[in-house]
Amino acid sequence: MTRNFSLIQILLLVFAWECCARAAAIFIDTINTQILLNGIVPKVNEQFLRPAEAPWHLGFSTLPNIGGGTVNDIKVNVDLNENGGLVFDVTKHGAKADGETDDAQAFMTTWIAACRNTVGPAKFLIPQDIFLVGPVTFAGPCKSFPITLENQGTVKATTDISAYSSSEWFSIEDVTGFILTGSGVFDGQGVSSIKFSRLNHTIIDGLTSINSMGFHTSVFYCYNFTATNMKITAPHNSPNTDGMHLSTSKLVTISNSIIGTGDDCVSIGHSTENIIITNVTCGPGHGLSVGSLGKYSKEKGVYDVLVKNCTIFNATNGARIKTFASPIPGLASRIVFEDIVMYNVKIL
Ligand SMILES: *[C@@H]1O[C@H](CO)[C@@H](O)[C@H](O)[C@H]1NC(C)=O
Ligand SMILES: *[C@@H]1O[C@H](CO)[C@@H](O)[C@H](O)[C@H]1NC(C)=O
Ligand SMILES: *[C@@H]1O[C@H](CO)[C@@H](O)[C@H](O)[C@H]1NC(C)=O
Ligand SMILES: *[C@@H]1O[C@H](CO)[C@@H](O)[C@H](O)[C@H]1NC(C)=O
Ligand SMILES: *[C@@H]1O[C@H](CO)[C@@H](O)[C@H](O)[C@H]1NC(C)=O
Repeated sequence: MTRNFSLIQILLLVFAWECCARAAAIFIDTINTQILLNGIVPKVNEQFLRPAEAPWHLGFSTLPNIGGGTVNDIKVNVDLNENGGLVFDVTKHGAKADGETDDAQAFMTTWIAACRNTVGPAKFLIPQDIFLVGPVTFAGPCKSFPITLENQGTVKATTDISAYSSSEWFSIEDVTGFILTGSGVFDGQGVSSIKFSRLNHTIIDGLTSINSMGFHTSVFYCYNFTATNMKITAPHNSPNTDGMHLSTSKLVTISNSIIGTGDDCVSIGHSTENIIITNVTCGPGHGLSVGSLGKYSKEKGVYDVLVKNCTIFNATNGARIKTFASPIPGLASRIVFEDIVMYNVKIL
């Protein structure tokens, strides 16, 4: 679906608190939380707006310290040579790709080769085949930088529940310069999800995730995380399948994506700052939300959130700030929902 947002003059906005008034230990800073009809983009966020581009155009000209020494002057805009040593194809590291054998071990072996045993840019490639994969952890820190996971295939989660020790299927942890790309599909088959934890400078460009259980993707403890061109879908009646859940993260941009999971499309949890969500189409589901806040005693607030140029349809709610019925104090401040188009949205 395409829309010309420049024509849209109307903003419809609904704040609905999950819980009743007595639950309002979270102070929603109404002075700083603006509801703009045709307002300005707040200055605090503007500097972080970046165009949605293919990752190799984003220019990693200065590379961060990746631990154990600084890698300088790597040109990441070079095409990685499919015949060279820098592409790690899972089928060349033991993956059967028959859609029946669990290829989890081969995926992890491939990750270790790409991440730990390589200096410079590396690509983990899932080619155009069908893979059955149990839970995998892709842990850093990596010597390679950046490290790209390109999925061109269909990766299906094992449906054997006993294989999972948690709800995570793919867990990507402690990496700097992680890039996820490719037009392939991650099919959670109703059992699993993808978690990004403790990542710095991440680009997700083109994630397709279907049929996850629980949150499709979660972003935890990440700094500078950009996700664009995502397509995240699940049957509309699936429970608690938030498209992307953020918590304890700074500088997150989600753009140009279609998310229809039956639950929150994007949920912005506690301890988050500088979050931008633009051109996301949400529905069917529960709309876009901040929260739920007030669950953990040590959580920090939610600051500087801009949700702009988004469409919400067939949803039980539009834009929300949600709290638990708890005595834990908190603050949600400088939150802007602007130019949001809604249709078939229930107003509670
Ligand atoms: C919102 O859409 C308008 C019109 O398409 C565009 O000019 C503007 O840059 C967009 N804003 C953001 C923050 O994406
Ligand atoms: C990410 O950056 C933080 C702050 O600089 C640092 O403490 C952390 O180790 C980095 N994480 C990785 C995976 O490099
Ligand atoms: C965020 O990461 C991108 C690459 O992913 C990089 O180009 C950009 O400079 C980073 N921004 C900050 C503020 O670190
Ligand atoms: C908005 O996102 C859709 C994909 O959901 C994309 O096709 C479209 O080009 C994006 N619009 C802009 C102005 O980037
Ligand atoms: C949205 O709701 C309308 C009316 O209930 C329904 O006809 C349509 O199929 C729904 N669309 C999606 C994508 O669920």
